[in-house]
Amino acid sequence: MTKPRILLIVGGGIAAYKSIELVRLLRKSGMTVRCVITRAGEQFVTPLTLAALSENKVYTNLFDLKDEVEMGHIQLSREADLVVVAPATADLLAKMAAGIADDLATTLLLATDKPVLAAPAMNVRMWLHPATQRNVATLRGDGVTVLDPDEGEMACGEYGPGRLPEPAAIFAAIESRLSNPLASSAVEAPPLPSRVSTSLDTNGSLDHQPDFAPENHRPLFGRRILITAGPTHEPIDPVRYIANRSSGKQGFAIAAAAAEAGAEVLLIAGPVPLPTPPGVIRVDVETAVEMAEEVRQGLPVDAAIMVAAVADWRAADTSAQKIKKDGSGAVPPLALAENPDILAGVARSPDRPPLLIGFAAETNDVIAHAEAKLAKKGCDWIVANDVAADPMGGESNRVHIVSKNGIDSWDRLPKAAVARKLMEKIADELDARSPRHSD
Ligand SMILES: Cc1cc2nc3c(=O)[nH]c(=O)nc-3n(C[C@H](O)[C@H](O)[C@H](O)COP(=O)(O)O)c2cc1C
Repeated sequence: MTKPRILLIVGGGIAAYKSIELVRLLRKSGMTVRCVITRAGEQFVTPLTLAALSENKVYTNLFDLKDEVEMGHIQLSREADLVVVAPATADLLAKMAAGIADDLATTLLLATDKPVLAAPAMNVRMWLHPATQRNVATLRGDGVTVLDPDEGEMACGEYGPGRLPEPAAIFAAIESRLSNPLASSAVEAPPLPSRVSTSLDTNGSLDHQPDFAPENHRPLFGRRILITAGPTHEPIDPVRYIANRSSGKQGFAIAAAAAEAGAEVLLIAGPVPLPTPPGVIRVDVETAVEMAEEVRQGLPVDAAIMVAAVADWRAADTSAQKIKKDGSGAVPPLALAENPDILAGVARSPDRPPLLIGFAAETNDVIAHAEAKLAKKGCDWIVANDVAADPMGGESNRVHIVSKNGIDSWDRLPKAAVARKLMEKIADELDARSPRHSD
């Protein structure tokens, strides 16, 4: 049986980041996904992220003539089995109800002959406004499935309905709508099937929608950031490897914070069992050599943050078979070879990012070692991490940012807080070097 095709329209709401998780769930289930993003939606997620996850071109502009030749807007609206709007903003619901077609998303919604499912998300007052309630009633009367938003605490101190249903709940509603094509306005998102899990389920920091209209809500919008995280595993034979105690938690927290701050994030991760933060493009590697190659391919970027604890050495020779004891008591020789120095390599590269940051986990003379590393590696900042009291793998970090301008020492903080503070500092630094065109 051919897998269903979904046309996903992403509107300009703060919950747009959850559409990324929805795309991941749809793709994981084998469905084909084409994304359309509104102009306002682009302020919250990048077309590149949606393209990478949907493995399909993302459409943004009605008057893109090339697309009219290759795939006209009428064809695009009809090629899907289901059109999904998530998040459906108050604005999109109003335009859909009124039949307005003044951009690509609304034109597709008016031109489609396929069922439509909308997952609203907005401030509670906007949701409860008689105009929105009228529009929802009109849409349901027209046969559009409009999910009820979740109820919960909103920023601005308000509580009530308006939060986007969790991606897994939208996914379940999509499955239900696809298996029941004649059904129209199922108003409740059905319960989640147990096999579905999302990164949002395990990522406490994203359990709640961010503030509705925070000031300068995306300070890294328009920036591309590369992050390495975790340990590397250097094989000795098929079952043994050289490793270290890095948990990857700090690097993953930094990737999550960078994505929340609006950056396009490429996370190159060593072997760690951590879920991918929403909105992050992740490449998994095992060895230092693989990590160096992925980093090289990931450049150029605006900032690179090298958090991974890359093994200094690897086994000089790797045995194709498991090395066995021969009973003589003789110990097999283990010759080591030096791994590439990824941080120094990036610093020397013609694609050196404008802001290059290294991490240094130290157990003694933390700042002196960091100053030496800054000079030796040719990077802009070293985030020196005191691991004497609390070795790698803990939940907090005490860091010192060492640069040619001096030392900025922070109190011990949870890793997510270190990550957010670091993003603020990076955003300020990048803005000082090259102001952004838009936010
Ligand atoms: C920070 C911020 C967050 C917003 N969040 C929402 C939201 O969650 N829901 C909504 O309906 N509108 C929200 N808006 C307003 C919409 O972005 C605005 O109405 C826009 O015109 C919607 O365009 P679209 O429906 O074409 O995507 C937000 C605006 C800002 C600046």
